Amino acid sequence: MSSTFDDRLKAELLRLRSANLYRTRRIVEGAHGVMLDVDGQPCINFCSNDYLGLAADPRVAEAARRALARGGTGSGASALVSGYNLEHARLEQELADFLGRPRALLFSSGWAANLGVLRGLLKRQDVLIADELNHASLIDGGRLSGAEYRRVAHANLSAFAADLQQAQSHPGAKFVVSDAVFSMDGDCADLRALAQLSRSHDATLMIDDAHGFGVLGPDGRGSVAAAGLNIDDVPIYVATLGKSLGAAGAFVAGSEALIEYLIQRARSWVFSTAPPPAIAAAARASLKILRTEPELRARLFANIAQLRAGAASRGIALGWREQSANTLTPIQPLILGDEARALSLSRFLFERGLWVAAIRPPTVPAGTARLRITLSAMHTRAQIETLLDAIVEGLVALHSHTDAAIPQVVA
Ligand SMILES: Cc1ncc(COP(=O)(O)O)c(C=O)c1O
Repeated sequence: MSSTFDDRLKAELLRLRSANLYRTRRIVEGAHGVMLDVDGQPCINFCSNDYLGLAADPRVAEAARRALARGGTGSGASALVSGYNLEHARLEQELADFLGRPRALLFSSGWAANLGVLRGLLKRQDVLIADELNHASLIDGGRLSGAEYRRVAHANLSAFAADLQQAQSHPGAKFVVSDAVFSMDGDCADLRALAQLSRSHDATLMIDDAHGFGVLGPDGRGSVAAAGLNIDDVPIYVATLGKSLGAAGAFVAGSEALIEYLIQRARSWVFSTAPPPAIAAAARASLKILRTEPELRARLFANIAQLRAGAASRGIALGWREQSANTLTPIQPLILGDEARALSLSRFLFERGLWVAAIRPPTVPAGTARLRITLSAMHTRAQIETLLDAIVEGLVALHSHTDAAIPQVVA
């Protein structure tokens, strides 16, 4: 590497550091869960997407272990060559059955699924209308497709309607794409309204339900089912397996034609090694638990209610005020605005054995740095109370150090 190139990187790294935007990793030792050993320190984890505690469920691990013993580690090739295993096929069928859709297609990650679907389906002459807070993979997939990309103000239905109206004269096909549960805000898109708008403007709706699948709707069937919608309303449904299902990968569920088309055209799927069969076995075991143990989701919702009630009684405002009624999801952000404040509070909590990662730009818009608190069915009432008390203490400490107004505590 030439020194000038390295110097350029170092200068950029320095800039990120001085702007409080430098990112580092902490090392987790052992199984993922609510109690973690992080950098050698025990702590309570409040920043995971393992909403049902399945990532370390012994039954899921055992299913993976059996598949490993039977079939080894790697799938060996892409699915179109020789990597398509019986575990993959069974998982796809079970996911399709669970969702009441004809077919599902397994991808190695949600990132790959969103890139593959958008790049594969959209043509240059098409138009894509997308919520501005959509996940980065939807943004990149949309941009990569070469279609006209229209970014709409978050959750603004009249802006969606206006863009759809303007696109009426467009020669190509129209697509609307949105997260179902916004990953950094925890609020839910109004899927019924988006479906209605898409239908009346002859547009195809794609929903990324990474954070709703396994959590929301009857039996955890996700946001589309929760909204009482079906495949005619939302023809393209994407969800991930690495969050509530505690495994890894993602899938697209839709019509026979959609899946067959993606098999021909989704480049991130065609040109990528199929996921390890043992991961598919793990996801199958998780899906079985999801179907048969509704009490897991009940515990998660009790925890969400406890956190929100406890925050309200302490004067801590979670989420955005105007959307907070719409955030009965495991993602409950505490917006701090400034990066340094978010980092300080995160550090304060970590020193007390509570891990809540600070989320900063570019993951969230400038001026909206936050702690993204997430809940699991496995958190205890006492752990949630400990977190709430520590947040109040931390906000008071932050206030006394910076002398800045702390809007989160309405004391
Ligand atoms: C809304 C959303 N879509 C897609 C992804 C990507 O999924 P994966 O982690 O499986 O790549 C994520 C997060 O990781 C997400 O939050």
